[in-house]
Amino acid sequence: MAILPIRLLGTPILRQQTVPVQSVDAEVQKLIDDMIETMHNAEGIGLAAPQVGRSECLFVVGISELLEDMAEDLQTKLPDQPMVFINPEITWESEAEEEFEEGCLSIPDIRESVLRPESIQITYRDRNMQKHSRTADGILARVIQHEYDHLEGVLFTDHISAFRRTILKRKLAEIARGNTRANYPVQPV
Ligand code: NI
Repeated sequence: MAILPIRLLGTPILRQQTVPVQSVDAEVQKLIDDMIETMHNAEGIGLAAPQVGRSECLFVVGISELLEDMAEDLQTKLPDQPMVFINPEITWESEAEEEFEEGCLSIPDIRESVLRPESIQITYRDRNMQKHSRTADGILARVIQHEYDHLEGVLFTDHISAFRRTILKRKLAEIARGNTRANYPVQPV
């Protein structure tokens, strides 16, 4: 497995629509393994293909580190292995929304509160191309929605208020220029 450099805000592929995966061949299997390794190395809880410069419609989620901080009755409901979502489609969102602070490995050192649906339903394929449908709420729903956005070229900073974006404008421009001190490999724009 290899640790891939993470693309920073300002890189064109982060703004592009991804392409559905037709089959999980050896190359895509390796991409998935590398993305999981890259996510863990960066201490992230999710990573989408465009963040490593790829256009495949897939993301990985790994929330096992968060589980250690949670009560045991919650742990049983959440997966402790990295999850792979290929060609996902969010088929339902709850009307109830909640605010939660988000960050993104492609936008180091920025954390902002984002309002999103509390619960979702998603269909997707796993790395064996088996189809699944599941509901998610809490932290899992949050991470899935954030990563799902990446597949459509959307970043969490698109969801914050125009006022907050103005406040962050200079900081975001600095990241796009590569002036950031992430403690994981990044690829300058
Ligand atoms: Ni992100």
